[in-house]
Amino acid sequence: MAQIVSVHSFRGGTGKSSTTANLAGIYAQSGLRVGVVDADIQSPGVHVLFGLAGDDINVAINDYLWGSTPLVETAIDVTAAAGADVPGSIHLVPSSTQPGEITQALRDGYDAQHFTQGLRDLVDDLGLDVLLIDTHPGLNEETLLSIVVSHTVAMVLRPDHQDYEGTGIAVEVARQLEVPNLKLIVNKAPMSLNPELLRTRVEEAYDAEAIGVIPHSDALMTLASEGLFIARNPDHELTKLYRTIGPALLT
Ligand SMILES: Nc1ncnc2c1ncn2[C@@H]1O[C@H](COP(=O)(O)OP(=O)(O)OP(=O)(O)O)[C@@H](O)[C@H]1O
Ligand SMILES: [Mg+2]
Repeated sequence: MAQIVSVHSFRGGTGKSSTTANLAGIYAQSGLRVGVVDADIQSPGVHVLFGLAGDDINVAINDYLWGSTPLVETAIDVTAAAGADVPGSIHLVPSSTQPGEITQALRDGYDAQHFTQGLRDLVDDLGLDVLLIDTHPGLNEETLLSIVVSHTVAMVLRPDHQDYEGTGIAVEVARQLEVPNLKLIVNKAPMSLNPELLRTRVEEAYDAEAIGVIPHSDALMTLASEGLFIARNPDHELTKLYRTIGPALLT
């Protein structure tokens, strides 16, 4: 059965989009059909990691939510970002970068059921094995709706006290929404911290499994979201780490 996974964090800049995009690459490299939805309508960006600029986006999730375009028709095949001859595929539903469309999203509501039904239909229409939803930080409507349709929420957090408190809030909300699986991914961990100790600490704090502790990486920072790290650095330790996180996220 297809797995729907929301990638979330309470605070911004934790690494949701880069984790989402690199895991999509890992899944496609292992032969899966992967969907990625940019549900960060207020500040979209994950398309950049797949090599697209805002101007390359002609139709977006906005045309589904506030128009009559079927969601499947907004999906762009971005498999090439994961490398040549990848056995699986990646289908990106982008979010519009047009200022007018972003402000419309903030101004006009939409039918919640239309949003959730669109995500479920997308899985069927594209025959997906995995659907990853990249969310806006904090708790907005799209995020809550994404969590509601998800089998798993991956909560990304930095080892930072502001993140710790925020993650507590987001975890509580995910539990109230009865998401079946909650997994933690610690990102940007300083090299000086013991990853195993960090893992144990967050697992105890949130009573949830931590499926990876990703170090702060100059190599990732230097790539600056210009493509998928795992495709450009197939033998890097970080890529090996993403390869262990990918399967651990799918239940
Ligand atoms: N492990 C890491 N080491 C170093 N830099 C990282 C790491 N993970 C992500 N980054 C960098 O941090 C920045 C923010 O990452 P990203 O856009 O993925 O976060 P985000 O949670 O999606 O942000 P937002 O909340 O704004 O959507 C990017 O420049 C990215 O390259
Ligand atoms: Mg993001």
